[in-house]
Amino acid sequence: MKTIRLFLMICLAALLFTPAALQAEDKKPRIGVSLPTTQQERWIRDEEAIRSIARKKQLDILVEMGNNNQMQQNLQIGRLLSQNIDVLILAPHDAVGAASMVRKAHNQGVKVISYDRLVLDPGVDVYITFDNEKVGELQALYLTEKAPRGDYIVLSGSPNDNNARLFRGGAMKVIEPLVEAGMVKIAADTPVIDWMPENAQKTVEKLLADGVRPVAVLAPNDSTAGGVIEALAAHGLAGKVPVSGQDADLEGARRIVEGLQSMTVFKDTRQLAAKAIDVAVEIFEKESWEDSVNARTATPDGKNEIPTILLEPVMVDKSNLQKILVDSQYLKQSEVFVE
Ligand code: BGC
Repeated sequence: MKTIRLFLMICLAALLFTPAALQAEDKKPRIGVSLPTTQQERWIRDEEAIRSIARKKQLDILVEMGNNNQMQQNLQIGRLLSQNIDVLILAPHDAVGAASMVRKAHNQGVKVISYDRLVLDPGVDVYITFDNEKVGELQALYLTEKAPRGDYIVLSGSPNDNNARLFRGGAMKVIEPLVEAGMVKIAADTPVIDWMPENAQKTVEKLLADGVRPVAVLAPNDSTAGGVIEALAAHGLAGKVPVSGQDADLEGARRIVEGLQSMTVFKDTRQLAAKAIDVAVEIFEKESWEDSVNARTATPDGKNEIPTILLEPVMVDKSNLQKILVDSQYLKQSEVFVE
């Protein structure tokens, strides 16, 4: 009798618990992704990388691409939140303007990962990015080695992007001592709205028309570098004045090969995307995700210290472009080296 009762109890327990346990093991997060724009190549590469990793891991993801417009991005995030996502991966167009949507996500119990760009104030759960200050440092180190004396044009990125401040901060750490030593003069120090090449071009055109003759131009990314180089070309200065960049955009890489742009800073979007997806899964699966994601540093968002995972940016110029960008299959040989 006792054995039968025990047997029945075991069967009941198996019936009750096994399906639930299996279900819990099987359940994967539904991940919402909101990226700020399709107007700069790098975000399209981020999107491709995120989709490809999610496909390999058989994860359910929903992606929205913005258009340098926070109102539109907020509507897109609202749409993601209405589709039962568990985690939101967010690169905001506007660091402040996206805060209300982070609060909304938190109210719904959705965890938020700030991706590449930090959202200011609302206390996102984790921030995954490249070392942004180091990006600026690498750019400035390169330029100051090529042009240690003379007038500099310093362009920073879009004022609504927290990264712009960080890049500029990193660059000025290198440039300011030279200014203090009387070697370098800052002829202009100005932001570029929305990081658009035409805005960078107009700024540099105006400075050149005013008689400024820079020995170097700090362009914060490849897109702005493109505009700067157009402006320099009109004065026969393209290829003669060192210009920095960032992102390893295809056009940027081509200009480096042609000798028009001096360098770029490579931030492998495949690495960033993979990390963000891994963390999204950890956050969903583990109560103790904070220990396992190993965010070694923290970034202030104005109110909170945000656990941060920092990836390493890499300096690329003519000497290592083939190895870093082509051999790693980030860019295609046939597209970079065009006749
Ligand atoms: C990113 C850069 C990018 C820029 C413009 C920044 O936040 O970190 O990689 O070039 O935005 O899209």
